[in-house]
Amino acid sequence: MGRVYNFSAGPAVLPEDVLKEAAEEMLDYKGTGMSVMEMSHRSKAFEEIINGAEADLRELMNIPDNYKVLFLQGGASQQFAMIPMNLMKNRVADYIITGQWAKKAASEAEKYGKVNRIASSADKTFSYIPDCSDLPVSEDADYVYICENNTIYGTKFQELPNTKGKLLVSDVSSCFLSEPVDVSKYGILYGGVQKNIGPAGTVIVIIREDLITEDVLPGTPTMLTYKTHADAKSLYNTPPAYGIYICGKVFKWIKSMGGLSAMKERNEKKAALLYDFLDQSKLFKGTVEKKDRSLMNVPFVTGDVDLDAKFVKEAKEAGLENLKGHRSVGGMRASIYNAMPYEGVEALVAFMKKFEEENL
Ligand SMILES: Cc1ncc(COP(=O)(O)O)c(C=O)c1O
Repeated sequence: MGRVYNFSAGPAVLPEDVLKEAAEEMLDYKGTGMSVMEMSHRSKAFEEIINGAEADLRELMNIPDNYKVLFLQGGASQQFAMIPMNLMKNRVADYIITGQWAKKAASEAEKYGKVNRIASSADKTFSYIPDCSDLPVSEDADYVYICENNTIYGTKFQELPNTKGKLLVSDVSSCFLSEPVDVSKYGILYGGVQKNIGPAGTVIVIIREDLITEDVLPGTPTMLTYKTHADAKSLYNTPPAYGIYICGKVFKWIKSMGGLSAMKERNEKKAALLYDFLDQSKLFKGTVEKKDRSLMNVPFVTGDVDLDAKFVKEAKEAGLENLKGHRSVGGMRASIYNAMPYEGVEALVAFMKKFEEENL
């Protein structure tokens, strides 16, 4: 069997060129006689890999000099604890609840201090992003936290919240490098790479330098202190070396595609194809308010659980994989990250049209 169109929400599709290149370099990375998986993280070859990856990411995102880039482990979920441990000086933080991942982050932060849930879209099953232009931001909040793209529900902040001068912390796991961002608007932005950038196991944290201090909550482990990793340039301990290597290749691939503006254009074109179909379909329905739709994760339903299951099964048989919605919400979800080609979305829409004709 050849390659399928993989609509998984993560781990997710990677650019085929990157996978081919990695395969070619598997046994002998650039004359070293070994795989990147086998080499010392202190070697010259790996030093070039990690430094090159950081330089390319800085260029792609136009990261200001007063921000550090950290390649860490522990998944995005570990950041749910690491953020309060490092930032909660007053032991107060404000969270905007737009789905399961923000909810989880808020619950974790509650172990360390007071969490104010200053806005939520739970009243409509997280199908929209609340108006965040004038929120009751707490006077003593150490930061305001958002999950910028909600992988499960398919919503995205089209505009960052007005934090009234407070630090903004954002989980960008499922929209990382999908469009240009202004890094200077954030205190921290971070994400697991397994959706848009690379293999699971690596987390990228972009953090403003003045937030990297020894003044963390008492008992914070060395490994969960940003300063440990910033001081050691992400080489305090053995980093997720192979993951960083693949991330570096994906950065180069994005550069070769024209950078983040080109990615955005490509992603908008792909998403429009699917949303336009959904908007006129008599069988399928998108579940998100139009203004808040994500370019990356597109949930939809037929309204009939059995028909949804039939769709997912038949789509799989047609080479369209992983279209089942998150286990907490059901229905379908097509994740159409950077590496999903336009042809993949065309194939999906063609299949949906056929399914609609056969099942209406
Ligand atoms: C937006 C978002 N945040 C956090 C996570 C958790 O990531 P991890 O599994 O790397 O801990 C996910 C995972 O799917 C996610 O989509």
